[in-house]
Amino acid sequence: MTLATTLYIVGLLGVGVVAYFLYASFAFGAGYQPTPPRVVRRMLDLAELHSGDTLFDLGAGTGAIVFAAARTYGAKAVGVEVEPLRVLILRLRLWWGGPRDRVRFVWGNIFETDLRTAQVVAVFLWPGAMERLRPILERELSPGSRVVSHWHPILAWTPEVADPALKVYLYRWPDAAQSTDDTGTRTRTPPTG
Ligand SMILES: C[S@@+](CC[C@H](N)C(=O)[O-])C[C@H]1O[C@@H](n2cnc3c(N)ncnc32)[C@H](O)[C@@H]1O
Repeated sequence: MTLATTLYIVGLLGVGVVAYFLYASFAFGAGYQPTPPRVVRRMLDLAELHSGDTLFDLGAGTGAIVFAAARTYGAKAVGVEVEPLRVLILRLRLWWGGPRDRVRFVWGNIFETDLRTAQVVAVFLWPGAMERLRPILERELSPGSRVVSHWHPILAWTPEVADPALKVYLYRWPDAAQSTDDTGTRTRTPPTG
């Protein structure tokens, strides 16, 4: 095999690995793109994250949100991630000097995750996944929980704060567009727009 052929094959394999890393999880709800540090900061500030809270990052990627939540805000953080290479990176980061008493990673599917212990949920997912997640949030979150999303809003909810420059949306559950009628049944105001 010539050097040129070897380089060609190595290049192709490299492109394949990068494409796998970035896009393989699309089918589950989103590809990979880390949230930039200043956006993470804005998300966690808006969510009023503090040391008594447990934050769930649904689709933890390589840990941008989880590690900031635990290190900077002293919160407990649970990162749920479906893609095994990223789970390996997350566990290596945690093992290598991470805040092990406050962080836990779950290799699994966000749509099968028990969110009842969350006070704050962070998401950076594609719109279809957000829509699929919404009824799960509505079923499992306790009153006063915050959901903070980067890039895509939760269409049927009303954000308490929207930062269009950084594309950050903060919601507080129960959502402002929800109301309770005389029988105690929760009713939904149809979303506008
Ligand atoms: C856009 S990245 C965001 C990563 C991280 N939250 C951050 O802000 O830096 C979305 C992540 O969600 C993961 N993901 C997508 N669908 C998922 C699912 N159904 N269950 C668990 N993780 C999922 C992807 O593998 C990817 O790492």
